Parts: sequence; structure tokens; C-alpha cells
Amino acid sequence: MTKNWVIAIDGYSSTGKSSISKVIAKRLGLIHMDTGALYRGITYYGLMHCLDNNDNLDLQQLILSLPRINLVFEKKDDELQLILNGNNIDKEIRQPIVSENVSQVAKLPEVRAFLLDTQRNIAKTGGVIMDGRDIGTIVLPNADYKFFLTASPDERAKRRHLELLGFGENISIEEVKKNLIDRDKIDSERDVAPLKQAEDAILIDNSDLTKEQTIELIISYIK
Ligand code: DC
Repeated sequence: MTKNWVIAIDGYSSTGKSSISKVIAKRLGLIHMDTGALYRGITYYGLMHCLDNNDNLDLQQLILSLPRINLVFEKKDDELQLILNGNNIDKEIRQPIVSENVSQVAKLPEVRAFLLDTQRNIAKTGGVIMDGRDIGTIVLPNADYKFFLTASPDERAKRRHLELLGFGENISIEEVKKNLIDRDKIDSERDVAPLKQAEDAILIDNSDLTKEQTIELIISYIK
């Protein structure tokens, strides 16, 4: 059985793309790359270094700062962790303040171009499963397998809320749902590389599936 597959998993926020991809990577001996983490890493840098006088993220300043940003993944305890200019920011990028700002950052063509090579270089040798929004359409259009995950907004909000409670974040489920819907809208309507299902992607609605059932379903397609 060859293990050099290139697998693209796209879809809406909180459909379980990353955690599902992580398990599939382990089972099939692939490297997993969570591309959303890269957009979150850039957003986190901006929130630390590129604020305007009102303490809002200054997108123009962030674009000018891109050459000063070095983002790499490092393996720790069998998982890839995101390192920004030498510092591990794997936890920081999950903070709600990052989630609230990341779609604005992911809309910027300069940011998307900046991250394209990083993503493609990792997939060059094959043996990779990459999850994001534009992997099947733009980053890896020739992927061997493409999946597009969706689930109802209520179900996704429930999952994300639980995850945030686990991180110790005190946030209401209504707030979580609003953030998800706002992000879906910005991600789907942006001009560059919008969130959309690739024509040759397999659509999976996992509103009524457990994580394990979703994993089994995806693996059943990979021959
Ligand atoms: O998967 P996530 O929630 O961590 O993604 C964070 C944001 O990054 C999300 O709002 C959309 C954006 N993103 C993107 O535009 N393209 C990708 N390949 C991955 C994520």
C-alpha cells in the first residue's frame, strides 16, 4: 500500500477538519498540516506588533511586517506545533481574540501569497494530509483525494464551545455561533481563494456523525 498520498480536507470552521486529519495522518503514516494555524500565526503576530491607535489590528502595517515573520512547524510529542520567530505559539493562536481577527487577515492577497509556498513545499514529497479552506481548489489542486466537510451551524457551535471551555475560555455558545457564522461569511465571500468545495471533492456532512464515524468514512474512500 503506497503511503505517498496527498490528501486535501477543506470545509467550514469547527467541522473537525484538524482533529480528524490528525488521526487519519497517524493511521495512514502521513504528515498532517493544519493550514489554519498559519493564518492564525500571522494574526497573532499582528495583534502583538501591528495595532493602530485604537488598539485594533492595522492590516497595512501587518502586510509591511510580513518579511519579519518566520512561521515553521516543529515536531513535539508526535505532533506539529507552530513556532513564530522561535517561540511556540500553539496555544496562543486558539484564543478567541485571534479567532475574531483571523478572517480579516486571511482575506489579504499578500498574506495568502506569503503562505502559499510554505504549504506547497510541505506537500512536494507527498505523504501529506492538509486541512484548510482552499487546499483542494488552490494550494493542492492535484491532490489524490479531496474532501469537503460541513455540518449545521448549531452543531459546529456546540463543538467549538466545548473545545473553548476545555481551554478555560469563558464564552457563551451564542457568541461562539456568531463568530463561526461571521467567519464563514468572510471566508466564503472573499475575492482571493474563497472557501468553496472543489468540483472533484467528496462532500461529507458530519452533523450526525461522530468524529470516529467521519474518520472511518473518509478512510473508506482511500484505496
Ligand atoms: O481552520 P481555522 O479555523 O483554524 O482557520 C482560521 C482562519 O484561517 C479561517 O477563518 C479561514 C482561514 N483559512 C484560510 O483562509 N485558508 C486556509 N487554507 C486555512 C484557513
